Amino acid sequence: MKRIAVLTSGGDAPGMNAAIRAVVRTGIAQGWEVLGVRRGYAGLTYGEMVPLGARDVGGILQLGGTILGSARCPEFRTELGRQRALRALRSHGVEALVVIGGNGSQAGAYEVFRMGFPVVGVASTIDNDLVGSEITIGVDTALNVALEAIDRLKTTASSHGRAFLVEVMGRDCGYLALMAGIAGGAEAVVVPEVETDPEALAQEMHDAYERGKSHALVVVAEGASYNASRLADYFHANEKRLGFELRVTILGHVQRGGAPGAFDRLLATQLGAAAVDALARGEQGVLVGWVRGEVALTPLSEVAGRAKALDPQLLALAQVLAR
Ligand code: F6P
Repeated sequence: MKRIAVLTSGGDAPGMNAAIRAVVRTGIAQGWEVLGVRRGYAGLTYGEMVPLGARDVGGILQLGGTILGSARCPEFRTELGRQRALRALRSHGVEALVVIGGNGSQAGAYEVFRMGFPVVGVASTIDNDLVGSEITIGVDTALNVALEAIDRLKTTASSHGRAFLVEVMGRDCGYLALMAGIAGGAEAVVVPEVETDPEALAQEMHDAYERGKSHALVVVAEGASYNASRLADYFHANEKRLGFELRVTILGHVQRGGAPGAFDRLLATQLGAAAVDALARGEQGVLVGWVRGEVALTPLSEVAGRAKALDPQLLALAQVLAR
């Protein structure tokens, strides 16, 4: 093999740059040329590729986002879009592709692989919902951003005897909400995986008030059937029964921005390097993830179109700890 390409796709995640750097430098160490694809699959379909040397990826390890850019690309979901991408890869002399991204991106990688092109995925999404990796690039940093916000909100909530609904990211997955809720000592968590009963939640907040708590903090995943705005609308009709005044904070994309922490830099570096190692060994059609403290390869066929479930024990623990 002489030339590979790397792209970042879907929602950016802190640590993607560290993964790009690892792919480029370990690829060069194999004696390969590495091309960077701009704007994910969107750029791929238009052949937007640039050679990346060791110096081009200098000084990016500590940067959030992705120097290659990312996009969500509806065109790539079509056979026509994917055929165009394959033509672009072949016309640039690319012999294998590394896809750094989350669920949608790895589903796309699987499609490329099924069309006969060598692909290796690298598990990267702040949602942590990929089958094949216990933890994905960006989760730890995003969680710490959410936690810092929760810690700050708790102090002001206690000063005023208020309840806060704090909305974190997670369109289809409540991992960030659950873990931020446990690590942040929330009174309740609301996740898409569990049907929300706003009446029961109101009762939980009121119980917290009755137990003498100075605040009630509820961490809500954006994708829950009752997200923070819907819950606020529901509660505002009769806020008094909560015991607390209610305020809402939506963290949004602030969780995806910013510098990756040490954990994400190290994880991204190891997964990026492992993707190149896998290609060098002739492995393809696999996701490079992290399982039981080490790199693990999972066939993309087992990853695509599936989502990792929340741990029910942690959901139960979050409730017990909120006493
Ligand atoms: O996939 C990661 C994620 O941050 C989700 O948690 C969130 O729902 C979504 O991306 C937001 O996507 P966009 O940046 O396209 O609005």
